[in-house]
Amino acid sequence: MRAPATGLPDHEARRLLLLATGLDNAGLASLASLSSDQEVQFKELVERRLAGEPLQYIEGTAQFGPVEVKVDSRVLIPRPETEVLWERAVAALGEADAATVIVDLGTGSGALALALKHAFPTARVYATDVDPDALALARENVEDAGVTVLAGDLFSALPFGMRGNIDLLVANPPYVADEDELPAEVADHEPAVALLAGPHGDEVLARMAEQAFYWVKAGGWIFVEIGETQGDRALELFGDFQCEVLDDLAGRPRILAGYRGATSCVEGNH
Ligand SMILES: C[S@@+](CC[C@H](N)C(=O)[O-])C[C@H]1O[C@@H](n2cnc3c(N)ncnc32)[C@H](O)[C@@H]1O
Repeated sequence: MRAPATGLPDHEARRLLLLATGLDNAGLASLASLSSDQEVQFKELVERRLAGEPLQYIEGTAQFGPVEVKVDSRVLIPRPETEVLWERAVAALGEADAATVIVDLGTGSGALALALKHAFPTARVYATDVDPDALALARENVEDAGVTVLAGDLFSALPFGMRGNIDLLVANPPYVADEDELPAEVADHEPAVALLAGPHGDEVLARMAEQAFYWVKAGGWIFVEIGETQGDRALELFGDFQCEVLDDLAGRPRILAGYRGATSCVEGNH
């Protein structure tokens, strides 16, 4: 059957119809009409979506590159630009073995850490977050895959022995300024701790940059998602690394990529 008229785009109504019926595409194609229970269920889902709740929260899952994660209002919905970060980080690292250490700081749903474990199954992958609610969901998503989940503020979540031994550090930290306007669908539903960094928006990036050089090993990499106006600031903050800012799929400068040489690129540092 076709999705009834709802006021939603057709592809969204169809996804909600799949959810309400529990059928797959083939099952839905051969369904003549909805039962009264399915009709009630479908109507409720449509109302939630029309009220602005993100589709992924309603469905309870999100696709991220090669992996799928559970999502709900405890975590940010993984974004396509973060998939670009994942692809670029995988390409930079190239290969990994059982001694390779990969860290995802501020993991949220765990999507990035899980996709990195998928790309480098033998590597030791760590996912951290400061938010206990996000950590609970991250554990559900990644622990069975062998990713270690750690709690704490930025690098304080990591064992001290890891300092200087990280081969690949990735992060999609909060980088929105407190007063910046966000789309209602984001501001009303996604967690503020995942989005807002402080009055200027670069506060978490700056705290991360203060320590990153000491944690990443010589010859290691860092990939950090940033706001599209933060490229110059990020290059300045992460100046110890050999850095560039990469574009996302829409051509916006959204990813700070840094290679850690043996010494800092900033004269007088370290
Ligand atoms: C923008 S979300 C990114 C989530 C996930 N990495 C993704 O890309 O979908 C930022 C995450 O960082 C976490 N976070 C915020 N401040 C943090 C801090 N000081 N230390 C560790 N994690 C933090 C938030 O709880 C949130 O889960």
